[in-house]
Amino acid sequence: MTKNIAILPGDGIGREVTAEAVKLIQVVAASRGETWNLEEGLIGGSALDATGSPLPEETVRLCRAADAVLLGAVGGPKWDHLPGDKRPEAGLLGIRKALEVYANLRPIRTWPGLLLASPLKPELVEGVDFIIVRELTGGLYFGQPKARLDGGEAVVDTLHYTRAEIRRVVKVAFELAKGRQGRLTSVDKANVLESSRVWREVVEEVASEYPGVLVEHLLVDNAAMQIITRPKTFDVIVTENMFGDILSDEAAVITGSIGMLPSASLGEAGPGLYEPVHGSAPDIAGQGLANPLATFLSVALMMRHSLHLPEAADAIEQAVHGVIERGVRTRDLARSGEAFVKTADVSAMVCEDVKRRLG
Ligand code: NAD
Ligand code: IPM
Ligand code: MN
Repeated sequence: MTKNIAILPGDGIGREVTAEAVKLIQVVAASRGETWNLEEGLIGGSALDATGSPLPEETVRLCRAADAVLLGAVGGPKWDHLPGDKRPEAGLLGIRKALEVYANLRPIRTWPGLLLASPLKPELVEGVDFIIVRELTGGLYFGQPKARLDGGEAVVDTLHYTRAEIRRVVKVAFELAKGRQGRLTSVDKANVLESSRVWREVVEEVASEYPGVLVEHLLVDNAAMQIITRPKTFDVIVTENMFGDILSDEAAVITGSIGMLPSASLGEAGPGLYEPVHGSAPDIAGQGLANPLATFLSVALMMRHSLHLPEAADAIEQAVHGVIERGVRTRDLARSGEAFVKTADVSAMVCEDVKRRLG
């Protein structure tokens, strides 16, 4: 059966890693004797340059009609002077909102071959396996008003949530915890923010439906510390949009590089959106230095959650595991003096391995 996958390369290394991911997706399709329809759409700075909008209507239509969407990354210094609604990032927020993908799953795991790539002690990070469930379509990112006031002398961003918005993402987290180790950590700032006090109330309400799940509440400042001091003790972490953004980059340090963190953004219906957690990395863009594995692991999540091809997801994850075990490193993972390979090299090795596994 054919699949329709929208590919949104975006900007900077987003373009480099999605180009490799397209090859990987084609390997999977070919292994099934199928030709899938992979169509590219414009988003971010490159969409701004081409059309004047960071999210052209056509891109939204393409994504809505797809079985799944793969996005690289958006943004870059060229567009940093633009007003908020014209920035590349507005395109990213816009597509998340248009697809209503409110639950952003960010799995954090360590790879045995990469324990020394983390600045943390190997015994601390060995065996880490948790998942951050970040609320993705509400909170400070979207609340109105969001504006400069009094001729620019004052400013407001609004942290707005409905109980329904909190409940639906919290439920996703409980369901995940139920299928894993049965432990849920909810992260908030309930000692200061009213929104967090309501968040905590909703978590407690939903908890009564999941007697088998053990719930812990952590304040976000403490959570930032605990994630680094006792990463192995977490199973599922659920939190609002901005806290989840910050904590996931912090958690990347455990795995060795932000270039290893995939994500899946899911809603009630419609296509899932798959993207690496990292950005467009202007400092290394265009040099073939980007680690494509976060995007490859996002493709694995797409195979599992949207395309219902768990064997393809396993094959990709095993191939990533394989190249790491063989000592293959992009520059972000190499220790000082250690040899590293380019984006296309590691990509070719993973693609070859996936082909063999599915062939
Ligand atoms: P970034 O994630 O782009 O880069 C942070 C650091 O990590 C840089 O040193 C970069 O070289 C490195 N890095 C990131 N991904 C890598 C990879 N795959 N391989 C090797 N090294 C990698 O974050 P930033 O520098 O704060 O942001 C740059 C731009 O990206 C900004 O415009 C920002 O808005 C945007 N951004 C976009 C997304 C997205 O599209 N999802 C996410 C984060 C940031
Ligand atoms: C991410 C990014 C985005 C976010 C930015 C670029 C809008 O940091 O996907 O983590 O904050 O959600
Ligand atoms: Mn981020």
